[in-house]
Amino acid sequence: MEILRTVAELRQWSRTLRIDARNDGRNLIGLVPTMGALHAGHASLIRAAKASVGFVAVSIFVNPTQFGPNEDYSRYPRSFEADCALAQAEGADVVFAPTVEELYPAGAATFVEVEGLGNRLDGASRPGHFRGVATVVAKLLIATEADRAFFGQKDAAQVALLRRMVADLRLPAEIVVCPIVREPDGLALSSRNLYLSPAERNQALTLSRAIRQVEALLASGERHSSALIASARQTFATEPAIRIDYIALVDWTTLEPVEDATPGSLFAVAAWVGSTRLIDNTILG
Ligand code: PAF
Repeated sequence: MEILRTVAELRQWSRTLRIDARNDGRNLIGLVPTMGALHAGHASLIRAAKASVGFVAVSIFVNPTQFGPNEDYSRYPRSFEADCALAQAEGADVVFAPTVEELYPAGAATFVEVEGLGNRLDGASRPGHFRGVATVVAKLLIATEADRAFFGQKDAAQVALLRRMVADLRLPAEIVVCPIVREPDGLALSSRNLYLSPAERNQALTLSRAIRQVEALLASGERHSSALIASARQTFATEPAIRIDYIALVDWTTLEPVEDATPGSLFAVAAWVGSTRLIDNTILG
């Protein structure tokens, strides 16, 4: 597995592969964008990519533009050696690990703003976050010229935003969504779980409990947004140490609230456990 540091090297890698691509599906190029601190959720994305395309690039880049001024950019977990070992073990062909200056050259003034969606759910609580995500993913897709890019359903709002961006910019990449990977007790895997103290780790289970409760209600035929949201609020009420950021039933394409859950609805929660913000969700149908 190669480690590439510049956009020019990555583009060269991708273009060289294309010269003898037979276009039989196995020769397609896949991108798994990450911020490192790789865990079993990322491993599942790399495996899904490897099963679906011939060549897989994993990007490892803690993207400064998606962090707010008081967020955790400087303390975001960084574990490059272990990340490369995991990427290699899962079959990645290259790791792309640029510097900040490589992706944001001096004087960089071009950003991708997805209007509307960029300000909903996590975008409402984290102003500028989705602008940073859209910008860096656009740069990565353009650099790799990837045919498919793989993301986890845990970041469901991010997926909606990126699908809109890819459609609007007519980028020739398909966004592939892979299921949430959970710990045996239900906690959705996240690099930020590393921040949790043992007590907070226990409190954090409230998110997946709320989601499971809503899934049970949906399975019983309940569809009303107010009933589903009330049920999640009740679950959160059992853990007063947690501060709810949002609980929402939305259309997964537009991220606009809906009255009734239908196939394609996204039920999503975000909450603060101590100083760590966690998210979880379920998608109907
Ligand atoms: O989901 C993430 O880890 C990040 O938002 C992404 C897509 C790698 C962009 O920095």
